[in-house]
Amino acid sequence: MDKAKILKLHGEYVMQNYGCFPIVFERGEGTLLFDGDGNRYLDFLSGIAVNSLGHNNKGLVRAILRQTKKMLSCSNYFINEPSVMLAKTLLKGTRFKRVFFCNSGTEAAEAAIKIAKKYHNDVGTGAYKFLAFTNSFHGRTIGALAATGQDKYKASFAPLPDWFVFSPFNDVGALKKAMDDDKIAAVIMECIQGEGGVITPSDEFVSSLNFLLKKHKKLLIIDEVQTGVGRTGSFFACSEYGLRPDILFTAKGLAGGVPIGAVLTTEKLSDVLRPGDHGTTFGGNPLAAAAGLAVTKIIKKKSFLDEVVSKGDYLKERLSFLHKKYGFIKEIRGKGLILGMELDPSVNARNLNQKFLDKGLILLAAGNNTLRFLPPLTVKIEEIDGALAIIDEVFGGIAA
Ligand SMILES: Cc1ncc(COP(=O)(O)O)c(C=O)c1O
Repeated sequence: MDKAKILKLHGEYVMQNYGCFPIVFERGEGTLLFDGDGNRYLDFLSGIAVNSLGHNNKGLVRAILRQTKKMLSCSNYFINEPSVMLAKTLLKGTRFKRVFFCNSGTEAAEAAIKIAKKYHNDVGTGAYKFLAFTNSFHGRTIGALAATGQDKYKASFAPLPDWFVFSPFNDVGALKKAMDDDKIAAVIMECIQGEGGVITPSDEFVSSLNFLLKKHKKLLIIDEVQTGVGRTGSFFACSEYGLRPDILFTAKGLAGGVPIGAVLTTEKLSDVLRPGDHGTTFGGNPLAAAAGLAVTKIIKKKSFLDEVVSKGDYLKERLSFLHKKYGFIKEIRGKGLILGMELDPSVNARNLNQKFLDKGLILLAAGNNTLRFLPPLTVKIEEIDGALAIIDEVFGGIAA
């Protein structure tokens, strides 16, 4: 079908809730995406941290095809081997004991909130509130949205559950005050605020949080939907920050493009959910689990993670060169292959999206005027160089 027809049908029949760019992608290969007009793009978004192994990864495709021929679904009344193996592989070498599988980040957030709530109800502590942070993002379903610290996502859906309270991210004084509430059941936070503009927590904030969690006996829920599965150079970013969650949830890159979500719990919380307490039809289905298993096996290898670190360092260093060259670049932030470049208000980062696309680079703005770099973890050095050359060209046009 020709592009104009697809765009027309999209405009007529699909809900217009995304504000899409008028580009129709057909296929991908590694870090490249190709549209129907034969244009190729360097994909520095990777489906918003989803295509962790790039497009059309041979090992992942093989695992998906193999499972497709065997069985796609069998319900959670029964057990399937790929989900058991994915659980075992995910947990190996971590502090977590059990996994709950679902289909997306927001569903994982809901499950994490329910597990923490039920734990407190079972023990009878009377704690029912959740402490979340300003500028955070946890998803679009009602609970995850209520935990999200950005009004722009929430305002149209008020009133939301009011047992989520917010403290400014990286503000130790405010954190101390907020934690001094015996009704707080758990703290929920991202290791790095991705949608918020790649904001990293300070060492002082993390050590105060750890101290206060212990002092007040609160649960810690870490959202690794965007940072998890190798993105920062560790399988889970919390280990790099010295955060020790009771519950961790992840999604996005876990199955390399097949929808999946996972909630991991420590021993203390591993038996909170009993039959009938929670569930989802597609959670842990063999297709998504087989994809997740293929991805996890590859990304858990030390050699793979070491490469993420070295490529991330390379990209960050190259971005720092641009920082020195262009006065309107305010800051470079992030870890591994989740990096942000904040621009000062004289340049609107969102206005650059189309300029990058015109030159064959998918690089989008997030949060507070920040360009967010999320290439596949398999990105090559020459592709980083290619992206940097395009950015330099676009920036050169602004500076001129
Ligand atoms: C940190 C974080 N949590 C949760 C979500 C929600 O995930 P999903 O879009 O799969 O529901 C996102 C999505 O961007 C995210 O970045």
